[in-house]
Amino acid sequence: MRLLFVCLGNICRSPTAEAVARQARPDWTIDSAGTSDWHIGEPPYGPMIAAAKSHGIEMADLRARQFSLADFKKFDLILAMDAKNFATIKALRQDQGGAKLKLLTDFAEGSVNEVPDPYYTRDFQGCITLIEECIEGLSATYA
Ligand code: 4NP
Repeated sequence: MRLLFVCLGNICRSPTAEAVARQARPDWTIDSAGTSDWHIGEPPYGPMIAAAKSHGIEMADLRARQFSLADFKKFDLILAMDAKNFATIKALRQDQGGAKLKLLTDFAEGSVNEVPDPYYTRDFQGCITLIEECIEGLSATYA
């Protein structure tokens, strides 16, 4: 399974999902990217790194990159963190085919329909807890 997690900046939600999924599924190929070019080359956001660390997740060595059209061929499944990033990726795909596109929260237990952006909400613990729940569901679905 080749998975790409996508958010806006690639410094909070998607690198966290990448790091959690890497730990859960060493047998998968996993990466993350942002739909924006705002933080290319930067490490994840400090408070997000700290929250992840408190859950035993190391992500400080990751570096942000922007989503590219080549990703549709490189991955089997693209998981967007919210409806806006889902729509951005869907519009870029048009009829190119390739990777399937879903929301990460499709794999949550409850009826949550996005991973709220902690860059704005400042709820970094809630973010990683939700991501861990979704990755558990994802890993069970594609066991
Ligand atoms: P992310 O969060 O999409 O989860 O990485 C954000 C990080 C930075 C910004 C927005 C969202 N920003 O506006 O710089």
